[in-house]
Amino acid sequence: MTAGAQPVLSGHGKTVCVTGAGGFIASWLVKLLLEKGYTVKGTVRNPEDPKNDHLKALEGAAERLTLYKSDLLDLESLRGAIEGCHGVFHTASPVTDDPELMVEPAVKGTQNVINAAADAGVGRVVFTSSIGAVTMDPNRGPDVVVDESCWSDLEFCKKTKNWYCYGKAVAEKAAWEVAAERGIELAVVNPVLVLGPLLQPTVNASVVHILKYLNGSAKTYANAVQAYVDVRDVAEVHLLLLEAPEAKGNRFLCAESVLHRGDIVRILAKLFPEYPIPTKCSDEVNPRKQPYKFSNQRLRDLGMEFKPATQSLYDTVKSLQEKGHLPLSS
Ligand SMILES: NC(=O)c1ccc[n+]([C@@H]2O[C@H](COP(=O)([O-])OP(=O)(O)OC[C@H]3O[C@@H](n4cnc5c(N)ncnc54)[C@H](OP(=O)(O)O)[C@@H]3O)[C@@H](O)[C@H]2O)c1
Repeated sequence: MTAGAQPVLSGHGKTVCVTGAGGFIASWLVKLLLEKGYTVKGTVRNPEDPKNDHLKALEGAAERLTLYKSDLLDLESLRGAIEGCHGVFHTASPVTDDPELMVEPAVKGTQNVINAAADAGVGRVVFTSSIGAVTMDPNRGPDVVVDESCWSDLEFCKKTKNWYCYGKAVAEKAAWEVAAERGIELAVVNPVLVLGPLLQPTVNASVVHILKYLNGSAKTYANAVQAYVDVRDVAEVHLLLLEAPEAKGNRFLCAESVLHRGDIVRILAKLFPEYPIPTKCSDEVNPRKQPYKFSNQRLRDLGMEFKPATQSLYDTVKSLQEKGHLPLSS
């Protein structure tokens, strides 16, 4: 964020809840909140699982982080973590295309979190939605600028069995409905594919998108485009949406750039020539897919500046090396 951005993000004396605290995005958010002085109540499914140990090691965690055992489908298990909070960040969600595992926890879980927040008199909920709730629309023309007015077509998501996008879109709709019914403030962030360094020990789904080009598992790249954003920026946006008065009642598209897979492998090969990065497109017949136009103006108006994708890619790979997910070149 720029020096002149509003508001001053100081959390001294404020308690907030982060659901799914051990996840890729949530871990960076917890780190940022602790740095800013907030007291953080994080929900995880198993506080004793060593996969959450990185949270306990964060600066300020010993004094100001408490982990609560909660499942999204168990409303009562969420209450303890949400009580007494100034704000709730609802980031927890399955990230899968299995409809059984995806849809109910995403939708019912979101309703549970917002209901628990309303019952507890929380000031604002920030919900982590997705680009998946925005762009899956076969009728969008090539010149349309993708922004917060766009919604994915639920029938198209179903027909193409894109259950992740379906689940996120239905969950976001549910979030808006429950928040309106219960009279609680809601702000929504719609991140695109998130890259950047990992705090957690495991590799999450969006980072696999890059890992597969480095560890030899992808032999070719797809003729496809994707929008990208850095995880540290996504964390910052979450905090901004809690504290900026004008964020209430709005969704925010959180994207830095749209790149073709061919651009991704070219950047990776230039930065890390030691890995077996694919050089061939799997589709040599059709014309190269063109990036769609998008606007991140709404977040820029709140003072956000985004890290370039090249930096994000570099930091992702360095982090995968440091955490032992990629061999270092000899
Ligand atoms: N990464 C991206 O590219 C991207 C882009 C757009 C939006 N998002 C959204 O951002 C949020 C975080 O994603 P991420 O990339 O950080 O994924 P992640 O690392 O897989 O984190 C997801 C978190 O949700 C928790 N969770 C899943 N199902 C749960 C349930 N039934 N009850 C309680 N917790 C549950 C997981 O807990 P466990 O550790 O116990 O499984 C995990 O901590 C999600 O809402 C996702 O849809 C991500």
